[in-house]
Amino acid sequence: MYFVASDHGAIELRGAIVSFLQARGIEVLPLGPAEGESADYPDFGEKVARAVSSGEAEKGILLCGTGIGMSIVANKFPGVRAALITDDFTAQMSKEHNNANIIVMGGRVLTETEACAMVKTWLDTEFEGGRHQRRLDKISAIEEALKSGEL
Ligand code: RB5
Repeated sequence: MYFVASDHGAIELRGAIVSFLQARGIEVLPLGPAEGESADYPDFGEKVARAVSSGEAEKGILLCGTGIGMSIVANKFPGVRAALITDDFTAQMSKEHNNANIIVMGGRVLTETEACAMVKTWLDTEFEGGRHQRRLDKISAIEEALKSGEL
């Protein structure tokens, strides 16, 4: 199950991405305000990041006006690797090098066509592993050290 959430800055984009994922046969839980409503991005960023962190959600997509606020929130959660992507190259790298389990985009930055193409790239790209896994392991070690009070 993929969780997809937005604030009011990306409601239309959220709809386009949910339809795009469903057309690929992916089960989706959409979250966020209805058209015309306002919402604070930490409220929905937390729901998705918590679900990815616990394993309840396989992956997540977060959307706000710029993508910045949602990225800041999502990366507070252990095990979350949320990547703010801005084009097809960063979409590819977010999976190939960072194995991002959440991608974040800006509804006031990208067109629906651009964003859906980036989602496709992220879905179709494989994590490269190797030296990139070593780097992700270092991030996990930092999380562990922060949790134990060692850092
Ligand atoms: C809301 O106006 C806007 O601040 C939000 O969507 C996002 O861009 C925050 O980073």
